[in-house]
Amino acid sequence: MKKILASLLCTIPFLLTAFSNPGADDLIAIQPSPQRSGDAAKGYEYLITGDILKSGVPYSYFTMINGKNETNHLNRTGKNATVDFGYNVIEREGIDVVVPTCLHCHSSTFEGKYVMGLGNTTLDFSDTKSTNFKPALNMLKMTSAKQYEIAKPFLTSAIATFPLMETEVRGVNPADKLAGILVAHRNPKTLEWSDSAMLQIPDEVVPVDVPAWWLLKKKNAMFHNALGRGDFSRFLMLSNLLTVKDTAEAREVSGHFGDVLAYVRTIQAPKYPQPVDDKLAAKGKLLFNDNCSGCHGTYGEGGSYPNFLVPIDVVQTDPMLCESFIKGKAFLDWFENSWFTEGENPAHVVASEGYVAPPLDGVWITAPYMHNGAVPTIEAMLNSKLRPKYWSRDFDKPEYDYKAVGWKYTTYTEPQKKKAYNTTLPGYGNTGHYFGDALTDAERSAVIEYLKTL
Ligand code: HEC
Ligand code: HEC
Repeated sequence: MKKILASLLCTIPFLLTAFSNPGADDLIAIQPSPQRSGDAAKGYEYLITGDILKSGVPYSYFTMINGKNETNHLNRTGKNATVDFGYNVIEREGIDVVVPTCLHCHSSTFEGKYVMGLGNTTLDFSDTKSTNFKPALNMLKMTSAKQYEIAKPFLTSAIATFPLMETEVRGVNPADKLAGILVAHRNPKTLEWSDSAMLQIPDEVVPVDVPAWWLLKKKNAMFHNALGRGDFSRFLMLSNLLTVKDTAEAREVSGHFGDVLAYVRTIQAPKYPQPVDDKLAAKGKLLFNDNCSGCHGTYGEGGSYPNFLVPIDVVQTDPMLCESFIKGKAFLDWFENSWFTEGENPAHVVASEGYVAPPLDGVWITAPYMHNGAVPTIEAMLNSKLRPKYWSRDFDKPEYDYKAVGWKYTTYTEPQKKKAYNTTLPGYGNTGHYFGDALTDAERSAVIEYLKTL
């Protein structure tokens, strides 16, 4: 009898966890696929100096317009030291050329310090329709035939893509739309460019928050909706589609991406810079393990990450991003029939109706939250009543809120056109993820204290 009672008691914590993790039965486990290995140091060097893109703007022209950048966050040498971290200076036929890089979107500064791999939520794509690259192309055509030829693939691509990827507010990223447009202009097998789009390009620009690179090492699929399966390194080089000439170039670039993937996997989440209340965090850990870990995993020694895709009717966050791929059959077909699925390390796309429950390492620094950056703080992520409908943050003097953990923000009672995040717009919604609502304020503070330590 005693034995039976003891075993019954033993199962109680189990049952509690199962019940307090809403929808645990519905979670879909994402299976791993083999990945390339490589040399991380070489991957880093390639990222900060390499020619992932072979076409860009002549250095002389670029510096005439932008001036020289003096921050040199990446401690680079030569001309690379004079451009922002989001650009590399490469040499093409004796000419110095500035090309945008992955780090434009995939790194940022926080309180003045450079953070590798942190999604850049300060970029402004809210006014791309008025950015006109045609005068630059015309000017180069008149002044130097050689410079014109070098800049042409980049500027042609920019002219075709920029006007179509305008977002409704600064801070969100249109990279998914960019990929959709590039694919429409390229032959899937040869990757050659065509001036007219060969696929229909949807009107919508889905706003996306850029995931932190240090999370990738735990993930079995890439992207918020687990779209990217198979060989990650193929997806990593997707932005090469901006200017790639042919498959010979794509193969050469791909040759570096085992190294880039190896480097990305070495990046660690930055440590929370302020004191943490250890006792409160310990309480928070227990609450987290009961209420959150079923989806987000456990942390610290012996921690494990379950790699779950959470169906949209369970997580209930804005559906536009995942639905755009369900509807976007032309994109999926292009990809599955393309160069990217050929060869030794094929990649594949799988559209799902839901979102990945991401690992929460370094989550304190990745505000704003959700796949579309609709929620400015973790406090509001865990208490849906606090989520602002219209809000803006100060990009010139960003102020971090160490209590609510996220960006300090201003709220409005009315929409502010493109000056404020408008959560009533399609794709920009802040609904769902109600998993913190049932906790008391004191419990939420404890969970937030714990999240600071991840
Ligand atoms: C224009 C901005 C932009 C550029 C440039 C860019 N990315 Fe991304 N990247 C994104 C966005 C946005 C996402 C998230 C897309 C989604 O999930 O739907 C993303 C996703 C990723 C992910 C997946 C992360 C995850 O956890 O699922 C990796 C890895 C990545 N990019 C690597 C790269 C590399 C390497 C380059 C350069 C060759 C690059 N990106 C260039 C915007 C960009
Ligand atoms: C049923 C699964 C599930 C449970 C339980 C759950 N989450 Fe989540 N969580 C998700 C999913 C899925 C997302 C991504 C949603 C999106 O971006 O649309 C997410 C996103 C988040 C984010 C935002 C991450 C980012 O970088 O944008 C935070 C923070 C978070 N969850 C914390 C928690 C905490 C704390 C708990 C427990 C109180 C919890 N979650 C419980 C599935 C879950």
